[in-house]
Amino acid sequence: MRLSLRFVIPLLITLGILAYAVVPLVDKLTLRWSMHDLDIRATLIANTIQEPLQDQAESIQPKKLLSLFKRVTDDERVYALGYCAGNAATMLATPSMPKTISCTDLDQFRTTGGTVLNGERGLLHVAIRSLSTGINSSGNLVLIHDMSFIERRSAESKIYVFYFFAGLALIVSILTVIIAQLSWRGWMQGIRSLMRGEGLLRQPGASIHVPELRPIARDLQRLVADLESEHRSRDESQISWTPESLRTILHGELSGKDVIVVSNREPYIHQHTGARIEVQRPASGLVTALEPIMRACSGIWIAHGGGSADRDTVDQHDRVAVPPDNPAYQLRRIWLTKEEEAGYYYGFANEGLWPLCHIAHVRPTFRSSDWAHYVTVNQKFADAVVKEAKTIDPVVLVQDYHLALVPRMLREKLPDATIITFWHIPWPNPESFAICPWREEIVAGLLGSSILGFHTQFHCNNFVDTVDRFMEARVDREALGVTLGGKKTLIRRYPISIDWPPEKALMAKPAEQCRQDIREQHSLPINQFIGIGVDRLDYTKGIIERFRAVERLYELKPEWIGRFTFIQIAAPTRSSIFEYKSHEELVIQTAAQINERFGGHGAPAIILKVEHHEPWQVYEHYRAAELCFVSSLHDGMNLVAKEFVAAREDQRGVLVLSQFTGAARELPEALTVNPYDADQCAAALHVALTMPLTEQRDRMRLMRGLVSEFNVYRWAGRMLLDAATMRRRIHLVEKSESLTISKGVGRSND
Ligand code: G6P
Repeated sequence: MRLSLRFVIPLLITLGILAYAVVPLVDKLTLRWSMHDLDIRATLIANTIQEPLQDQAESIQPKKLLSLFKRVTDDERVYALGYCAGNAATMLATPSMPKTISCTDLDQFRTTGGTVLNGERGLLHVAIRSLSTGINSSGNLVLIHDMSFIERRSAESKIYVFYFFAGLALIVSILTVIIAQLSWRGWMQGIRSLMRGEGLLRQPGASIHVPELRPIARDLQRLVADLESEHRSRDESQISWTPESLRTILHGELSGKDVIVVSNREPYIHQHTGARIEVQRPASGLVTALEPIMRACSGIWIAHGGGSADRDTVDQHDRVAVPPDNPAYQLRRIWLTKEEEAGYYYGFANEGLWPLCHIAHVRPTFRSSDWAHYVTVNQKFADAVVKEAKTIDPVVLVQDYHLALVPRMLREKLPDATIITFWHIPWPNPESFAICPWREEIVAGLLGSSILGFHTQFHCNNFVDTVDRFMEARVDREALGVTLGGKKTLIRRYPISIDWPPEKALMAKPAEQCRQDIREQHSLPINQFIGIGVDRLDYTKGIIERFRAVERLYELKPEWIGRFTFIQIAAPTRSSIFEYKSHEELVIQTAAQINERFGGHGAPAIILKVEHHEPWQVYEHYRAAELCFVSSLHDGMNLVAKEFVAAREDQRGVLVLSQFTGAARELPEALTVNPYDADQCAAALHVALTMPLTEQRDRMRLMRGLVSEFNVYRWAGRMLLDAATMRRRIHLVEKSESLTISKGVGRSND
């Protein structure tokens, strides 16, 4: 109703103004027409009187004439009649003739159409007509009409005009209200459906009840999608992605909402080493990517405090400001019992989900006791997020397979939060995922997110297929969205990346100096060729396959024996899991075997360093090597590949990259290999070691261009931009819904 009034009130005002303008016009016209009438009547009367006057041609008989005049003035509109003969000064007139009119000043009334005079009882119309009464005689007839009937007629006209406009206003208002109601209802339904991205057209009649709106809706939907993608790609390519641009997005597009990151692994681990406390940066792709984002955005990062000195370094709220040397954000630590850690982290996450999602031929193990801990710990993380949120609608970035249930748990407590979940590892096909006894719970948990991100389109598709197979959810394959329980989750590809340019401290030592220092450090000849591998000691990384490829190189190209050494940095990881322990043993054993076969020529074939390395040490190795070999058997992205490229600002070095990494899709200038094919890998190593510097430079330049352009700020920025668009859409839908509700209230008040 309120909506209709918005149409009707301006309409009524307009009609009122129109009526106000029309009334004087009608008045004027009535007067003009009436005067014209009177003038014609005057001529008619004059003609009628002329004849009897001519009969009295020689001598006018006043009595007779007056009686004639009297008869004429019986007409209610004729007020007075008079006659001025020849040059006579006195007028023969009916008694009603106004005193102001005399025979001597008739000329002033001789105007076309007559003259209006103010009489004692109102307006009078004066007309003078010349009459010829004989051959040589003439006179002037003075005709006075009463104009009061014109005033009456004018008043009547005004009333008619008023009724006319009032009627018009009523009819137009009723029509307007009806049309507005009908089209508003239809449009709003259409727009709401569009906002929700629902299939207006795929489900005829489901959302739009106004069939004529459908073609418009289709065009509108297409237009919105085009504009959005155009806007996004334009924005994306036009932005130079830096910490600053990320901050701008956060403040501009998300009005400075607080950002909460939640992950299992913490970015800084405090460890007791003797009497001292040391800070470690963990070997984790997730941490490598997110740490620069948090430095740029501030906010809070919630993670498991797993370091031996973690409890000694937090405040009373379990928070510590990091990075320790230049604090930019808060790290909030979550404490887990030994049992919780064993069940949730080692058990369900790393013995269950990790091998389930990586096709690396290690059987996943699922235990109900692990699942129970997984649920409890996820709830612990979700509660911490709720506690740390400063607003009812924070932006929460949930990370990885450890916390699959957190999005739904959060959605229940913070329904207005924007939850962006990123799955850092591959998502398998539905058949593989079906192995998990809690597959529905995991998927439902993830679908609490506003946006769910994967590294590749392939993983997005696998996830959507899994939902389609196991859930009672609506899957929109075109827009890649899933709606469960009325809540929509967008499934999007966001290839993760690294900080660009890398921290100054990591690149401080010149590449040439790194070459010398690393060879010296490992007691290698100064002109020794070096290959480098940097991984957690994880069976998915293909370290055994890598070593076998080096061995095959020596077999196929013996000229490299003694001239080429492969250095493997292997960070200890998840060591209490049996598969990891036995894998570590196998890696050590394999390296020893190969060294035994090919190492006795002045330099070892393989140098294996199973220990933690700080980022600056890793970068020193990257910058010293001729090649970097990434041979993962299955990897979501693999940031080592991108780090190696970033470290080589000297544009030297060759990347040998497994085709089973997400990175291989982005870096085609690497030498792409199948890690299971030892011969192919050995050939690639040989090509890398003999590649001319110009070709190395050309390949490296292209890869550096890509990593610099698609850096980690772009990764996070795209997610935040999408989240901002989503928030705007939701607000629009809510606005339109509240309008509908208030319309409903208005109706009941009517
Ligand atoms: C992978 C996972 C991360 C994890 C990292 C290190 O990259 O996706 O979530 O942090 O491995 O593993 P860890 O078990 O030591 O955290």
